[in-house]
Amino acid sequence: MNTIIRKLIYQSILAITLLSAAFSVTASNIDVYKSPTCKCCAKWVDHLRTNGFIVNIKDIGNKEARKHAGISSALGSCHTAIVDGYAIEGHVPAQDIKRFINNPPGNAIGLAVPGMPMGSPGMEGSHSDPYNVLLIDKKGDASVYSRHIPSDQRESVLKLK
Ligand code: CU
Ligand code: CU
Repeated sequence: MNTIIRKLIYQSILAITLLSAAFSVTASNIDVYKSPTCKCCAKWVDHLRTNGFIVNIKDIGNKEARKHAGISSALGSCHTAIVDGYAIEGHVPAQDIKRFINNPPGNAIGLAVPGMPMGSPGMEGSHSDPYNVLLIDKKGDASVYSRHIPSDQRESVLKLK
């Protein structure tokens, strides 16, 4: 076979492989345990769907799911999600979930945004507060996975350092 044709075939196979890999990442299935009356939970679900997740809603509350996942109520929020066997507690941005499931640290059980910080996805409102996404390990300990600082507060936060 002509080497140019061979190269073209190889390149198209590579492109298809890369595309399907990218598609599988953006089309993750995620179960969301929440109360049927929780409005900010529904807004977070919309945020996940906008970002390519296939969301399965479990309207039975999240206390059992959170406990089962090994996340303490001190780190708790209004909903608990399960993706690829990992727990996502609270209003975690879709980008953090994607980064996490693409490369989960070895001893991690998931991510959490405790409470319901204003300005996090699903908690948009009159103002935005800085908040951290926490990485939770198998012992239940938390460390900072990412920081989210509203653009208008970045300078003042930098000045504090
Ligand atoms: Cu909420
Ligand atoms: Cu919620």
